Amino acid sequence: MNAVLEPLRVQALAEIAAAADPRELDALRVRYLGRTGSISQVSERMKELPKEERPVQGRLLNEVRSAVASALDARAQMLQRDTDRSALAGLDVTLPGTPVASGSLHPITLLMDRAVALLRRMGFAMADGPDIETEWHCFDALNTPADHPARNEQDTFYLPDGRLLRTQTSTVQVRVMERAAPPVRIIAPGACYRRDEIDATHLAQFNQIEGLYIDEGVSLADLRDTVVFFVRGLFGEQTEVRMRPHFFPFTEPSYEIDIRSAALGNRWLELAGCGMVDPAVFAQMNLRRGDNAYDPERWTGFAFGFGIDRLAMILAGLPDIRLLVENDLRFLGQYRG
Ligand code: DAH
Repeated sequence: MNAVLEPLRVQALAEIAAAADPRELDALRVRYLGRTGSISQVSERMKELPKEERPVQGRLLNEVRSAVASALDARAQMLQRDTDRSALAGLDVTLPGTPVASGSLHPITLLMDRAVALLRRMGFAMADGPDIETEWHCFDALNTPADHPARNEQDTFYLPDGRLLRTQTSTVQVRVMERAAPPVRIIAPGACYRRDEIDATHLAQFNQIEGLYIDEGVSLADLRDTVVFFVRGLFGEQTEVRMRPHFFPFTEPSYEIDIRSAALGNRWLELAGCGMVDPAVFAQMNLRRGDNAYDPERWTGFAFGFGIDRLAMILAGLPDIRLLVENDLRFLGQYRG
């Protein structure tokens, strides 16, 4: 038996030491230790030995088996080390790495986030509606009759099916009132679209943030307080606020909101439209809903719509509104949220 085992051991260790890659090593593992491998075959033949020789021969067999097994493991490790070393060869770990470019928030987004945070502090919840709207949501429900200039094709983008790109976020007021009964306290930031000659101060797409507050006993004083808190939160406590009488079909009375401060160059800037919700809007909503949820004898409310793009321009000192949509990274990269 010795005569078989010893040469087997010598040969196995020599072949393992010479194995050049993991595949060769695997083949050797099968050849020597596999179920039908050489060592297993010797083990099979142990039965043929006289009983008294078996313990000695058995121990010998185990020694050879474990010597081969550890030689296989050691060689595998060595091969892996060689592979790792050659993978790292030529790699200069002192070279500068590939920089990870981090993005930045658009100035409109930055301003919108601040505006939303301020209004949420006053209890306004977020609401939204589709950019592609029906004429009814954009105009009729908002007391804007068919002959109103805003409905003119020159002013509005109509789709072939009669729907349109919303010209104002006031549509979301309607969307909310359709679904929910008062009290209502929502804001709706979003994009609006109007046909416009594009120049340094006009784009065909712009952004507004809409607000609507309906409850019992809501008054003009609440509107004014809300607007003043909001504007001073955005532009500083020193900011003056002026509400100038105006006309909007869906509010009565209606105002435009102007602000002025030293930081903004001490001239009046027009920021928003607002007013007390016209009872005619409540009447439309009740008709649509088929109930009297918006009973004008019980509920009053105010609404406002701020233009965001102009504010962003003023805050960032931008000379041209087109910078906001050109996606020039030299411009956008200056804004970090
Ligand atoms: N939707 C108006 C616009 O785009 C702005 C506006 C005026 C919104 C009065 C309102 C409001 O909610 O009450 O010109």
